[in-house]
Amino acid sequence: MSKQTAPIGVFDSGVGGISTLRTLAQALPNENFIFYGDSANAPYGEKSSEKVCVLASQVLDQLKHHQVKAVVIACNTATSAAKQQLMVANPNLPILGIEPALKQAVDAGRQHILVMATPLTISLPKYQAQVAKFQATTQIYSLPCPGLADTIELGHAGLPRIQALIDQLMADVKTQPIDAVVLGCTHYPFAADLIAAEFDHPVQIYTGYEGLAKNLVRHLTDQDLLRTAPNTDRQIDFYSSRNTPEELALYRHLYRYGLDQ
Ligand code: SIN
Repeated sequence: MSKQTAPIGVFDSGVGGISTLRTLAQALPNENFIFYGDSANAPYGEKSSEKVCVLASQVLDQLKHHQVKAVVIACNTATSAAKQQLMVANPNLPILGIEPALKQAVDAGRQHILVMATPLTISLPKYQAQVAKFQATTQIYSLPCPGLADTIELGHAGLPRIQALIDQLMADVKTQPIDAVVLGCTHYPFAADLIAAEFDHPVQIYTGYEGLAKNLVRHLTDQDLLRTAPNTDRQIDFYSSRNTPEELALYRHLYRYGLDQ
């Protein structure tokens, strides 16, 4: 396997990164992907930073067994808590992460921005610094969402619980004059329609995935790793730390259909 034909590794604490993988796979149609979900240890967003670093590093080791040419941390929590450490430990492997797309919403002129993320992402200095940069000119509502990533791990079967939790978490913010919602956890895009429906007016949803895809293309191109020749036998493979046929079937289902049955 040459460097160009090697797969791209994408990982998350669980199923959330599959929402990211969908965008990346569309933007890079010739690439093979290996997705690894650490569902046995989900959610990361309610653990300590140190614990998330240990877990993320174990997942990276799994991906390295597949000789990945680059890794995308499709998890906001793991990006905030562990990306820097993973990059230092793996200097020859391109490692990209995902951050709440707050800048994108501000640049688009949004004035009242709701950011939904895990308690850990919101508590970390990386996010606090992002907010500090924009809060003089923009009203930012930071909403930690304990339990939401975990409930989305249930897939379609969890829909009534997901809806009930969103109703509860958003009870106060939905009456605010919010014009944009930044989904700062890769699990939440699966519930984007339910979140948008909480408001009685239209809101723009931001995930940051397009920016991430462009960034990945740029990294691969700069390092001569981009696969440009047509890939007639494209492979998108799924692995999980909760390694059961049901879990892997859930991953494939979410990749194809999202939370729809
Ligand atoms: C979680 O595992 O708690 C959510 C992952 C994320 O922040 O994207």
